[in-house]
Amino acid sequence: MSAYLIAAIYLFVVFLSSSTVFGSEGDEVYAKEILGAAQKEKEWLVSVRRQIHEHPELAFQEHNTSSLIRTQLHKLGIPYTYPVAKTGVVAQVGSGSRPIIAIRADMDALPLQELVEWEHKSKIDGRMHACGHDAHTTMLLGAAKLLSQRQDKLKGTVRLIFQPAEEGAKGASQMIKEGVLQDVEAIFALHIDPTTPTGAIASIPGALTAAGCQFEAKIEGVGGHAAAPHMNVDPVLATSFAILALQQLVSRETDPLHSQVISVTFVKGGTAFNVIPSYVKFGGTIRSLTTEGMYHFRQRLKEIIEGQAAVHRCNAYVDFKEEYFTPYPAVVNDNDLHLHVERVGQLLLGPDNVREAKKVMAGEDFAFFQQLIPGALFSIGIRNEKVGAIHSPHSPFFFLDEEALPIGAALHTALAELYLNEHKHAVH
Ligand SMILES: *[C@@H]1O[C@H](CO)[C@@H](O)[C@H](O)[C@H]1NC(C)=O
Ligand SMILES: [Zn+2]
Ligand SMILES: [Zn+2]
Repeated sequence: MSAYLIAAIYLFVVFLSSSTVFGSEGDEVYAKEILGAAQKEKEWLVSVRRQIHEHPELAFQEHNTSSLIRTQLHKLGIPYTYPVAKTGVVAQVGSGSRPIIAIRADMDALPLQELVEWEHKSKIDGRMHACGHDAHTTMLLGAAKLLSQRQDKLKGTVRLIFQPAEEGAKGASQMIKEGVLQDVEAIFALHIDPTTPTGAIASIPGALTAAGCQFEAKIEGVGGHAAAPHMNVDPVLATSFAILALQQLVSRETDPLHSQVISVTFVKGGTAFNVIPSYVKFGGTIRSLTTEGMYHFRQRLKEIIEGQAAVHRCNAYVDFKEEYFTPYPAVVNDNDLHLHVERVGQLLLGPDNVREAKKVMAGEDFAFFQQLIPGALFSIGIRNEKVGAIHSPHSPFFFLDEEALPIGAALHTALAELYLNEHKHAVH
């Protein structure tokens, strides 16, 4: 063997152990380093999360949450832009040049009374962080800290997006309008998941959450004495037919292998026992695992309500309430980014702790980012029976296993750093 070849092999080995190439021994060292650094911040993470949990704020009103984020970023010496979409904060760590990737956390709480009795219960009546957005925000702040400690190692830029108003209030689209995705080539986010144990994650390529929209219909007849139906035009009967006919959209018009849901969630009409009302209002939500499916569904819903109203001599008006609810697309995970999440998850948490995520018919406004650039949303386990972390999001009993906080911070950090390592640009 020539001396050159030996030197080349030696350099290659040094390269393998110093850089993080998946599957090499350097990876184990890297995983320990990141997880160790995150665990050191656990106390801080828990205290940040509890502060946010005690003071839940609704969509676009996340003023104190936003201020807490800015205070922490300021302490860390991380530059940020504020306000973005009213209360949003966008920070940046790294070299300042491309590639630029983004990580997003949502900040808003729900109009819900917390029913868990514990020391750090929500201090605001009728409001609760029951979807774990307090944890998402905390994990991203944790990543901000870890990434800033590793600033010199970053082969590009990480944009940290603290987003308002995920819960049905257009937070993501507003942030996009204000330019947060500019020059960003990939975006990641996580969501807490009480069906997955703490220490594990779940991911899936393709569709993960449904596209959906809300609707309200008004069926108008002619009111009058209930004893003389022939003198009136009964909107109650027309509404009953319309609601039943809508059910057949899923059972008769949808591919049985494609998931769609329609739920009528309210019906309002009439006030007396002996008066046929002049109109009835009802409404609800529709969901589809594809965005096109949702738009088609929406069109058919309108036709069916109008058609059923006409059969019963009524008029129908269907309103999709777009001034309040933007129809949202399905979360569709980019295949390569999903594989990256899986690999990083395996690296940090071990192969047994990376699972296949279950699709859900709930919506997530992360989908708006994915309409423009490749993105991956994955689930992070928070299930722990011992602390009562078993309830589903949006439940008044929802409870988080705080052991997940450093894990989330570590995952974000490694996802970003390793992505940049693999995609570093030779020339800008
Ligand atoms: C936000 O902070 C102000 C000033 O400290 C306080 O009065 C208010 O109650 C806080 N709001 C919430 C939702 O915690
Ligand atoms: Zn939610
Ligand atoms: Zn959520």
